[in-house]
Amino acid sequence: MPDSVEVRARTGGAELERVVYTAEAIATRVYEMGHEIGAAYPESDPILVLGLLKGSFIFMADLVREIARPVTLDFLVASSYGAGTVTSGEVRLLYDPENTLEGKHVILVEDIVDSGTTMNRLIPMLEARGPRTLEVCALLHKHLAPELVKEPKWVGFDAPNEFLIGYGLDHSENFRNLPFIGSLRTPE
Ligand code: IMP
Ligand code: MG
Repeated sequence: MPDSVEVRARTGGAELERVVYTAEAIATRVYEMGHEIGAAYPESDPILVLGLLKGSFIFMADLVREIARPVTLDFLVASSYGAGTVTSGEVRLLYDPENTLEGKHVILVEDIVDSGTTMNRLIPMLEARGPRTLEVCALLHKHLAPELVKEPKWVGFDAPNEFLIGYGLDHSENFRNLPFIGSLRTPE
């Protein structure tokens, strides 16, 4: 568990409510998820792991190193949040994967499912490209979305309804480099 001095140094003095998931807890869970994913598909089938940037970049990097079989990787960038902590309801695709999805087992890697807006907009767009299968792997799931077009097949942690930062998750582009996940005291 990081002590408060280390946490304050890492956050530049910002007040954290608490550390929610330590780096060790995350690593243990990511190891399990990687091995589950690796075992879930027939050996010779092509898998495309598609990371949703920017929030998933650290999770994605750790996860794929725990998948002990060949996979290809790509990213997409969707923007749904402005500077605040409340969803705007808009999803814009700013970068499209170079890889075709057609005929592949596609795994969309998300940092967190919150309102579900991002998932609900992205999944139909990706399904339309004819993947053989499409599944979602989310590090965190707040279980707030009234209706998800697709429930994530793999979830790292059922997250509390707090604004979480670290391990890729940001608040106004800050805190992504924290090795643990914390909750912000008074997000605006
Ligand atoms: P949703 O569309 O509300 O499900 O949220 C999707 C995106 O919003 C996530 O991929 C995150 O990038 C961001 N987000 C949602 N909740 C949080 C949070 O608690 N902390 C940081 N980012 C969040
Ligand atoms: Mg964000």
